[in-house]
Amino acid sequence: MKFDVPATTNPIDQLKVVGKSPDRIDGKLKTTGTAPYAYERHDVAPNQAYGYLLGSAIAKGTVTRIDVDKAKAAPGVVTIVSTLDVPKLPLGMRNIAQLFGGAEVMHYHQAIALVVAETFEQARSAASLIRVEYSRAPGKFDLAAEAPSAPLTGPAAPGGGDASRINRVGDFDGAFAAAAVKLDAQYTTPDQSHMMMEPHASIAAWEGDKLTVWTSNQMINWAKQDLAKTLGLPPENVRIISPYIGGGFGGKLFLRADVVAAALGAKAAKRPVKVALPRPMIPNNTTHRPATIQRIRIGADADGRITAIAHESTSGNLPQGRPETAPSQTKLLYAGANRLTALRLAVLDLPEGNAMRAPGEAPGLMALEIAMDEMAEKLGLDPIEFRVRNDTQVDPEKPERPFSQRQLIECLRQGAERFGWSQRNPKPAQTRDGDWLVGIGVAAGFRNNVLMKSAARVRLGKDGGVTVETDMTDIGTGSYTIIAQTAAEVMGVPLEKVTVSLGDSSFPTSSGSGGQWGANNSTAGVYAACMKLREMIAQKLGLDPANLEFADGAVRAGERRVSLAEAAGEAGLSAEDGIEYGELGKKYQQSTFAGHFVEVAVHSFTGETRIRRMLAVCAAGRILNPKTARSQVIGAMTMGAGAALTEELAVDKRQGFFVNHDLAGYEVPVHADIPHQEVIFLDEADPISSPMKAKGVGELGICGVGAAIANAIHHATGVRVRDYPITVDKVLNGLPELV
Ligand code: MOS
Repeated sequence: MKFDVPATTNPIDQLKVVGKSPDRIDGKLKTTGTAPYAYERHDVAPNQAYGYLLGSAIAKGTVTRIDVDKAKAAPGVVTIVSTLDVPKLPLGMRNIAQLFGGAEVMHYHQAIALVVAETFEQARSAASLIRVEYSRAPGKFDLAAEAPSAPLTGPAAPGGGDASRINRVGDFDGAFAAAAVKLDAQYTTPDQSHMMMEPHASIAAWEGDKLTVWTSNQMINWAKQDLAKTLGLPPENVRIISPYIGGGFGGKLFLRADVVAAALGAKAAKRPVKVALPRPMIPNNTTHRPATIQRIRIGADADGRITAIAHESTSGNLPQGRPETAPSQTKLLYAGANRLTALRLAVLDLPEGNAMRAPGEAPGLMALEIAMDEMAEKLGLDPIEFRVRNDTQVDPEKPERPFSQRQLIECLRQGAERFGWSQRNPKPAQTRDGDWLVGIGVAAGFRNNVLMKSAARVRLGKDGGVTVETDMTDIGTGSYTIIAQTAAEVMGVPLEKVTVSLGDSSFPTSSGSGGQWGANNSTAGVYAACMKLREMIAQKLGLDPANLEFADGAVRAGERRVSLAEAAGEAGLSAEDGIEYGELGKKYQQSTFAGHFVEVAVHSFTGETRIRRMLAVCAAGRILNPKTARSQVIGAMTMGAGAALTEELAVDKRQGFFVNHDLAGYEVPVHADIPHQEVIFLDEADPISSPMKAKGVGELGICGVGAAIANAIHHATGVRVRDYPITVDKVLNGLPELV
């Protein structure tokens, strides 16, 4: 189904099932431990052996020798595959660091050997007996040291040189110089780790030259293509199965070493092999969110209208890596005739930097939305009023492109009303509660809605039940449930009559889960397949397709009513289709918006910050299931609290690795750390986005939260911290004198 004109009224608009809040249909499996993770799939292949990965002890250089003799003789060892046994494997399309093979070491904890044994303990114990010799090369590990010489990134115009890599609209320099009120400030965000609950894990089994992998991955088709490329197999020989996933947060978008090592190990062992990454290996073996150094300049006239805005960001990555695109929202969020954005990328020899929890906007808004607070303060304007004054209903870089919908002002206004913003004393450090200083802060949330084609197969069974198959993943987001709701709505059956099977590359290719694009696109694909199934039913029964009603498990045309069970017949019916998008994504800017509000208390002796209340008011198209959407948003808000207050990978700048590599040293907040979280969804249905009229919502929940917390801390204490995370040491010195 091609989607190239705005949606009109369609079966989803009935909202009998979609838009309601049924519990997750996989909830019982999840809460009874019967939705197994990849590592627990004891049932899928007999005689599984355990693989344990050894990581490189140097950050850069070569492996000159691996002595496995002692390890091979250890009890239970089946085989050992070392990186020197395997040629350098080609990189998947979306990998930048070598996953396995060859002598070159690109980062600390790069996988260099796999021990396969009868038990996990035997494999781990034997791995400690491997002796490795390296030739160490000097590396670069300090972003701040490399930043001043980091080159601009992005495609240069032919003959344009470096200057053309700076994205300019109007005359930023002139307008900034002439501005009545201006800010020029630097903000920094640290390296961060996904720290999803389920570690990366895979079981690989070969049958001849056909490979099946049970794994934990957000993007089944990417994994299939990339694994095929890495191992030199035709893609049709690779099957990826990942039906239940314990979180991904971007860390499972791409093929990782557990998959490749399990496949190589299974080949060598001639039996299925399972590999899980122990938690302490994840920060350095897999990917992370790269640290940023951001400079923001804003100029405004005396009335608080932005005349000049610039956002530049520097991050680091391995050669061929990409930058953290922190200025991306600044291109779209506020008006202003004169604009500049730029990205610089330093080559670092730290592990691979890649997508994590709303890449780009999450760290970008952490800077921009403090800058907006600082500007409001300089202007003597209320921070909400300052944002409202600079709203835009069109893409400020290309004014001929309107937003499909944009209710940022409404998000801020409703949030202000609900949160009690009018009680706020504009002067910082004025509110005390015992030994605590109390403050509230606001920030805008922004994240784009991404369109991706997505397909599904839908079967109607002889019992009138509907089965949906698509390689879509549920990473804890509720995909199973919203897909079932979609099929139930379109086919006119109760939710209980829908069975959803996900996460198998033998099913039609979906959008997968990432970039908050999963919900809208995958359900739109299911919608397309269901509409095709409706046509097949009409055709089979000889009914006029224009005049059909699917409801209560039957199809009705005028006087004629046929149950779906009867329509299906003994053999059943099956339809496959998908959604593909035309030009609407280019003609309109499709984005989602939020107003984030936070109340904090900062201890007046210790500088410790406690979050007391959080509120997000979101405008994100039709909300397919308010319960699962709310869970997404409060989870993301909690991650925003981590980004603001605790989460930081400490870099060992001499040896080149992340030091705090477990949940004791890398602190992730949980919901219980925040006593009160509320989410409001504005009533919205966006006919430009898809037949579902939905947009992404999950990542919107984290975008802006960090700055709202920083702004609340400033309001509580008068201390402005521009360097995340906002730990006690950064707050303590600025705390007001105690009387
Ligand atoms: Mo998201 S960081 O694109 O899984």
